[in-house]
Amino acid sequence: MSLQFSETSEQRIEETLKRYPTKQAALLPVFWIAQEQFGWISQETIELIARRLDLSPAHIYGVATFYTMLLKKPAGKYHLQVCRTLPCALMGCDSLIGYLKERLGIEEGETTDDKKFTLTTVECLASCGTGPAMMVNEKYYENLTCERAEEILKELK
Ligand code: FES
Repeated sequence: MSLQFSETSEQRIEETLKRYPTKQAALLPVFWIAQEQFGWISQETIELIARRLDLSPAHIYGVATFYTMLLKKPAGKYHLQVCRTLPCALMGCDSLIGYLKERLGIEEGETTDDKKFTLTTVECLASCGTGPAMMVNEKYYENLTCERAEEILKELK
């Protein structure tokens, strides 16, 4: 049986579609609903969204690959997204990224063996004046140092 939206997701999609002039315009919120249900955006999820919104899978795929916050493979329990854009670079994000890679034993885009952490680098997180910035799932952290990053990792169970 092909992938299906849950009843809850389907209700949310219905509500979302009412707020947009076309199904295509509602694509991003529908992505979020799908990612919340399935954890990531697989090829099957792309096909499901395409069927639901009467759009081509190629269009859905193109949008999915543009946005780094849409996960193209399963992530760990905590998704660390570190900004690598210039203002954060000037404030030392390279050291932070290097520290996290060494500390977790993974490269960018990888997940630790225990499936606890996924590390990615992303474009501006809109905290440019308080960089380096990082998101852990939905939570923002700013003015980061390697020491603060270590504290954050220890706080995450
Ligand atoms: S440049 Fe890093 S948050 Fe904007």
